[in-house]
Amino acid sequence: MKVVSIVGARPNFIKLAPLSKEIRKEFDEVVVHTGQHYDYEMDRVFFEQLEIPDPDYHLGVGSGTHGYQTGEMVKKIEEVLFKEEPDLVIVFGDTNSTLAGALAAVKLHIKVAHVEAGLRSFDRKMPEEINRVLTDHCSDLLFCPTERAVENLKREGIVRGVHLTGDVMVDAVKQNIKIAEEKSRILDQLGLEPEEYFLATVHRAENTDNAERLKHIVEAFCETENLVFPCHPRTENRLKNFGLWETVVKNVNVIRPVGYLDMLVLEKNARKVITDSGGVQKEAYILRVPCITLRETTEWVETVEDGWNVLVGADKSRILNAVENFEPERRHYSQRFGDGKASRRVVEILKELNGKPE
Ligand code: UD1
Ligand code: UDP
Repeated sequence: MKVVSIVGARPNFIKLAPLSKEIRKEFDEVVVHTGQHYDYEMDRVFFEQLEIPDPDYHLGVGSGTHGYQTGEMVKKIEEVLFKEEPDLVIVFGDTNSTLAGALAAVKLHIKVAHVEAGLRSFDRKMPEEINRVLTDHCSDLLFCPTERAVENLKREGIVRGVHLTGDVMVDAVKQNIKIAEEKSRILDQLGLEPEEYFLATVHRAENTDNAERLKHIVEAFCETENLVFPCHPRTENRLKNFGLWETVVKNVNVIRPVGYLDMLVLEKNARKVITDSGGVQKEAYILRVPCITLRETTEWVETVEDGWNVLVGADKSRILNAVENFEPERRHYSQRFGDGKASRRVVEILKELNGKPE
């Protein structure tokens, strides 16, 4: 069986890493990189650290509006699919690269597998929610990280081809946490002591494109002592446009985005994590670190139900209150996202179907 895996953005690379290892034990894999992310810290560093095979095709699409970016990707992915004639296309998560890959393939009647299917925040203002819903409805195989994801799909009438596999991001954490602890020097480099600092990330469109929301968030960052902030390029641009950058740099330890190994070490040793990232909420849970989420909704509801995550939106006083007072009920921890063998399970299912998804 020939598989084309399509990636383009930071979280796509991290999800591809464990799966690609398993796929290559059984099938031929062609990796397509749309070029959605391109800075070294958003792209190449993950291929190097996670030993992801170099992309066979780099489409160089880059940044732009949703229509431009997604449209260019569909056009260019289609050319690759005409040439490669794969049996299956695999897409990951909820980025524009995910949707473009699914659309290009389904229109050519090539089977589509979605890794991280069935997630829903029920907030259609998030570009990711549109990408998730549409990708799921184009997919023949839907690999769900959680039971809740399976239920979400059922509610939308999707039951064929649905498999509960666990989350490939757990695989990535389990495979890399020891390596990270051996190799990363980030705590020394930044002069940080375990459990004595807060780690913050923010990049969601609904937070960064709205000057008011972004202002409230970074004001809370500025009033939080000992906060490290690996800053997404989108957020850096917006902070500069809104005239907030100088204040943030003066009051907060702002750093460039870090590689995956440094990120795992920063997360694991943080007193608390403050974020609007989907992946970071989940990793905080897996690493048993309290998480404060800068959103009103989350698709990773299990993290909240188990008491490890609290949703505070972009409200400065709620953020600061959680920084001060939020403590999870540490006894409530279960393997809600799987056991670290999701990638193997996906490949076993593909083998059983023998390249002929239902
Ligand atoms: C994208 C995904 C989001 C995901 C995030 C992960 C969509 C709709 N959004 O958001 O779901 O959580 O990636 O990080 O697919 N930029 C650079 N260098 C880069 C990449 C981006 O400077 O390497 C800047 C550009 O100014 C660009 C902006 O960031 O316009 C936004 O990039 P884009 O890929 O459109 O969306 P993200 O915000 O990164
Ligand atoms: N990440 C990283 N370096 C950073 C910030 C995030 O390696 O500076 C990793 C993080 O550990 C997680 C993934 O990127 O595995 C999450 O991606 P992101 O927050 O960009 O997107 P989301 O998960 O919200 O789609």
